[in-house]
Amino acid sequence: MCGITGYIGTDPTGRIVHEGLQNLEYRGYDSAGIALAGGGSLSVHKTGGEVGDLPVPSREDGTRGIGHTRWSTHGEPTRENAHPHTDCTGDVAVVHNGIIENYAALADELRADHVFHSDTDTEVVPHLIETHLADGVSLLTAVQRTTERLTGSYALAITAAGHDGIVVARSDSPLLLGHGDTGTFVASDATAFIEHTNRVTYLRNGDIAHLTETEWTVYNDGARVSRDIEALDWSADAAGKSGYDHYMLKEIHEQPRALRQAISGRISDLGTDVTLDMELSTETLQNVAELQIVACGTSYHAGLYAKELLETHADLPVTVHVASEYELRGGRSPKDTLVVAITQSGETADTLAALRSAAQKGAPTLALTNTLGSTVTREADDALFIRAGPEIGVAATKTFVSQVATAALLTMHIGRARNAISTSDAAALRDAIRDLPGAVQQVLDQAPEIASIAREYADSDAFFYVGRRAGRPVALESALKLKEISYDHAEGFSAGELKHGPLALVTDNTPVVAVLTEYAAPERTANNVKEVQSRGADVIGLASDAGTARHADVTITLPACGPLEPVVANVALQLFAYHIANEKGRPIDKPRNLAKSVTVE
Ligand code: M6R
Repeated sequence: MCGITGYIGTDPTGRIVHEGLQNLEYRGYDSAGIALAGGGSLSVHKTGGEVGDLPVPSREDGTRGIGHTRWSTHGEPTRENAHPHTDCTGDVAVVHNGIIENYAALADELRADHVFHSDTDTEVVPHLIETHLADGVSLLTAVQRTTERLTGSYALAITAAGHDGIVVARSDSPLLLGHGDTGTFVASDATAFIEHTNRVTYLRNGDIAHLTETEWTVYNDGARVSRDIEALDWSADAAGKSGYDHYMLKEIHEQPRALRQAISGRISDLGTDVTLDMELSTETLQNVAELQIVACGTSYHAGLYAKELLETHADLPVTVHVASEYELRGGRSPKDTLVVAITQSGETADTLAALRSAAQKGAPTLALTNTLGSTVTREADDALFIRAGPEIGVAATKTFVSQVATAALLTMHIGRARNAISTSDAAALRDAIRDLPGAVQQVLDQAPEIASIAREYADSDAFFYVGRRAGRPVALESALKLKEISYDHAEGFSAGELKHGPLALVTDNTPVVAVLTEYAAPERTANNVKEVQSRGADVIGLASDAGTARHADVTITLPACGPLEPVVANVALQLFAYHIANEKGRPIDKPRNLAKSVTVE
């Protein structure tokens, strides 16, 4: 999705903003631009292509700069539609994330006196600022008056010739400041500036900040407000590729460490106690009659896995909702319904909208997220962090396994609170959680073998993935992984559903990947394996049990990991997807049309 970066300070502004844009490329974009202002002039560089096509502006171009990577919503991905957008005088430059919902009415009003050059919703903003500046007010006041006219969501950064500093504003779209030794940064995502500073201030809805070379001041509703500085526990190295060809591959290999972080300090060495840094009271958990999960994409698949765990071990009915389809319903009353938003970024617009709908009706809400300070953490009643560390590849990998591991911890916590989990189930879950990092490492040690299986099947017409119980979300997730990075047709199904339709697609050039692990009813899925084999398809089976594995044509052998064994299978299938996409030379970290953080509904 769109990314914003900006800097004001004593270091070379053009280089810093250009590097910030490169750091944001992972989010997915189709055009980009930079504006630098200094003294009485403004210089703007835009491209309908990649950040690398933009020049690196020199210090002479200006001392305060803003940049943008655009993921088109309103208007084609052309140079004209790329940000920054300017006013009629060419003195005001604006970058924007989000959607200005009333832009058409504003543009109709402004067109009498202003000339528009783009098809974007954003361009009304510089023209509105221009009208206010004409009254002789400061840039800060002009932006304040402009935001009063806007409806929708926005993160804005504005700089102007002849006006001091950079002004930024946020409403329902993330924006944070970075406090470095040489100046102040602004970005939609800390990755833009993390190599310069980890000291950040998350702006809140309605905040407008004025950044100068020496100061940063935040206002809300016209009044000056104070905002904290927090230290992010990320390093630039954590956000780099560390010698791997792609972020995705690095993140796949980081999973044992990510899982150890997710578990660390949360599970007792002896016994089955779980300590989660959560504030939802035991009483709330005891009184809940139903749990509803809202999420999108990979996080939705983690939600399906969580349902399997919670219903089996915490005696709690769970429904999982694609967030964009959600409106709170069900439950005896909203207060009896705990709504859990699963979102690694904490910024997915559909998930936030679902959470808000639940909160408005009075349901207690919990966020399961990777991102400290993200919008979901501020809007949910409580937050539980998956502690996976930064994930840069658009394809979610380590965040999926960390979401499921954290859901397993949550299951133990809720099961205990409700007195619903048996001692043996608690011990089995505890062992699986503890064994998971090591089991994942064992799969990573088989990476060369998995790569060679992937290469063997890379030219297939399509790929089908099947599983039951917790094997089903893994089948869905593994198919999503393959299709998004390789552009091959891949679908996941409940194994039992094959014969109700999908079997018609199966041929001798459509391999079927079968999750034959524990916690996935492997013997029953083995029957479906026979159905596809007799139609000529090869079956790639994932199993820890040699007896079950014998049903497949090709086997990826897994270490046993109890209720989390399907997660171990998922790691093998991440590698399978990666190597097929790599074989085809796909842009694995930035698949076409996709974005890391989907901040529009
Ligand atoms: O940040 P979120 O977890 O809310 O993102 C939701 C989906 O956009 C995301 O999981 C997406 O499906 C994955 N990046 C695909 O690999």
